[in-house]
Amino acid sequence: MKKIGVGLLGCGVVGEAVYRGLAENAKAISARCGFQFDVKKIAVNNISKKRVGVSGGLLTKKYMEVVQAPGVDIVVELMGGEEDAFTAVTTALKLKKHVVTANKLLLAKRGEEIFDLAQKAGVKIGFEASVAGAVPVIRTIKEAIASGKIKSVFGIINGTSNFILSSMMERQTTFADALEEAQNLGYAEADPTFDVAGIDAAHKLTILANLAFGTPVKLKDVHIEGIGLLTPDDFIFARQFGRVIKLLATAKNDDGKLDIRVHPAMVPANMPIARIDGVTNAVEVDVSDAGRLMLIGPGAGGDATASAVIADLVDIARDMAHCSSARVSPTGFLPHSRKRLPLKNIDSIKGGYYLRFTVDDKPGVLAKMAGILGDNGISIDSVIQKGRTGGIVPLVILTHEAVEKSVKKAINKIDRLSTSQARTMLIRLEDGL
Ligand code: HSE
Repeated sequence: MKKIGVGLLGCGVVGEAVYRGLAENAKAISARCGFQFDVKKIAVNNISKKRVGVSGGLLTKKYMEVVQAPGVDIVVELMGGEEDAFTAVTTALKLKKHVVTANKLLLAKRGEEIFDLAQKAGVKIGFEASVAGAVPVIRTIKEAIASGKIKSVFGIINGTSNFILSSMMERQTTFADALEEAQNLGYAEADPTFDVAGIDAAHKLTILANLAFGTPVKLKDVHIEGIGLLTPDDFIFARQFGRVIKLLATAKNDDGKLDIRVHPAMVPANMPIARIDGVTNAVEVDVSDAGRLMLIGPGAGGDATASAVIADLVDIARDMAHCSSARVSPTGFLPHSRKRLPLKNIDSIKGGYYLRFTVDDKPGVLAKMAGILGDNGISIDSVIQKGRTGGIVPLVILTHEAVEKSVKKAINKIDRLSTSQARTMLIRLEDGL
């Protein structure tokens, strides 16, 4: 059996699972591509840490030793972070070695340089594992959707935050307990703020939008809000409105403008996306000719992510066997056909809104608020007021479709009233793109 040398950079939750997966599934893998993968070297931070089934002789602390090792044909970057990962990946590409990476932060921030380098070097950069764990969304958008125009991509692409939201919604778990559970299960990022603040989802959305619309997207183009400000009350009210709260990542080509954002949204409980629970990810792609496609599966965790890494290795092996590594460009679009789309400002979007005000429970307050909303062209759909404590009450209003700028203007004015006791919580309603 022909062998391909692999160098692993990083041997944490995913790295160990890749190492184990290559050994345990060797037969199935070679039946698909005619090669065996031979892990030649592994770069780790801590050599003395116990790693089940990983031969200590392969370990080194110097990642460049792995990248430059003569027997390493493919470099698998699983160390995360930006600077060292960038150095490792670009050095490997310059050495004309293929690269597989799960590093969404790296691709979101430096993807253009990396894709360009891979293209010029005529080698492959596989990054299926960077978005949605085991779900083959990269390959689907890049290769399977090749005829129509993609109108939108939307979904749940952070397993940790979805796990937390599902636990808070279904089991009334506290935010802290749910996060700890997700960390123990190996879902969360090294810095879990990335998960709960929406940053990890934004990294992934940047990559997806790049592939979907053939446009260079920058991380700073994404409007990002996390789940950290949601309170148990919001989940209770959501249920009363027949809705659930999800951290949605959406990217839409809106008449030539890119509308790209990550934020909590209230979706109708009977919408397919509402039923995506726990660490599961789901991505819906709306294609001009094919219609709506939805991909669902485990979005985080060692084995799930390793399966995508190994699929990329198999893909590279197949191309190596036929000397056709540059067959598909890294983004799926020919470089000269990619162009930057202007951005749609979040203030100009239109939709329904959930507004939770915290106000004095006394006559005239609601009337005054309704007046301000009306003055700003905002029409009320429903109102709930419940749970008075110490004369203060949460007052929730769902609006009909309104322009975001007007909604923010009205909230600002209401929050400055002497009868308002806390900043208003705004959650966008999402009834489908
Ligand atoms: N922390 C990420 C998540 C892991 O929870 O989705 C997969 O990228």
